[in-house]
Amino acid sequence: KDKVYILGIESSCDETSVAVLRGNKMLSNVICTQEVHANYGGVVPELASRAHMKNIVPVVDEALKKAGINKEELSAIAFTRGPGLMGALLVGVSFAKSLALGLDIPLIEVNHMEAHILAHFIEMEGRSIPECPFICLTVSGGHTQIVKVNSPLSFEILGETLDDAAGEAFDKGAKLMGLPYPGGPHIDKQAREGNPLKYEFTKPSVPGYNYSFSGLKTALLYFLEDGMKQNPNFIQEHINDICASYQHVIVDYLLDKVKAVLKAENINRLAIAGGVSANSYLRNALKSLAEENGMELYIPEFQFCTDNGAMIAMAGYFKYQNKIFSNQAVTPKNRMAL
Ligand code: KG4
Ligand code: ZN
Repeated sequence: KDKVYILGIESSCDETSVAVLRGNKMLSNVICTQEVHANYGGVVPELASRAHMKNIVPVVDEALKKAGINKEELSAIAFTRGPGLMGALLVGVSFAKSLALGLDIPLIEVNHMEAHILAHFIEMEGRSIPECPFICLTVSGGHTQIVKVNSPLSFEILGETLDDAAGEAFDKGAKLMGLPYPGGPHIDKQAREGNPLKYEFTKPSVPGYNYSFSGLKTALLYFLEDGMKQNPNFIQEHINDICASYQHVIVDYLLDKVKAVLKAENINRLAIAGGVSANSYLRNALKSLAEENGMELYIPEFQFCTDNGAMIAMAGYFKYQNKIFSNQAVTPKNRMAL
């Protein structure tokens, strides 16, 4: 187990990230976040592809250097096949194929959403690994899912968003308030000084364990327009309370369905994954829930919340152990089921 070195390549969106794992231990995890998109208020696919193209070789070199190994020592190359931006994926997929071909080692395709969950299996000091089955709430800029993890190779989606992702609700809401992109961390920060119960936003109603977030941003838009009619400085003067209240409804809504799933499935292990799991209000709400119910809660380290190569290498390692390899004809998929 200790001799297996997996290189993981992530290029599905705006992070070029490469990591090396030995077994399930992380040796390096280099994350190069593309700054170009900040000026556009969102990820520009064409610019993302170009930046991946430029970054991929230096990021791979740095990951190998930090891990203290030569590329000839690698056992396999794992890469994100999808879901994600087609042009961005193409860069990582092509590079992974070439490297595996050159080194004559196995090539392993990874589903980005599965990888977010499997980041919980990376061995780190002082951190425990969840036992299966457990429930994972994956909340990112592109996805919102409640998944039952039966094993590291078997997943069941119990609920998901029908429109916008939770991260989009944060980012689009932030844009309406004039905060920079990506807005999630800005709302988080402003909200710390605000009252989450000051303004009330109605939770969208969707049957089962599914979500809908697009209505919330519209509700916020009308709310802001109303406020501005009375006071042109409404947003600036009340930004902390607005952020706190808007964040509160998103988090409360996320928790409602998660609680229902845990109860119905009779499982008391919950993990969170994806960029929005960095949100401090969500983390605190989950910690309280765990304390109240004697539930085991798994919150990823910050470096594993947003997109990273380590989670791709980890997912790759599970496939490696089961000899689940891809062939050189593999192509990216911008939409991809678990
Ligand atoms: O997983 P991720 O890095 O990329 C995707 O695959 O989408 O997630 C990015 C998302 C963005 O929407 C960003 O605003 C959100 O995660 N995010 C946060 C926080 N940090 C990142 N949302 C709320 N609070 C945060 N602290
Ligand atoms: Zn992601």
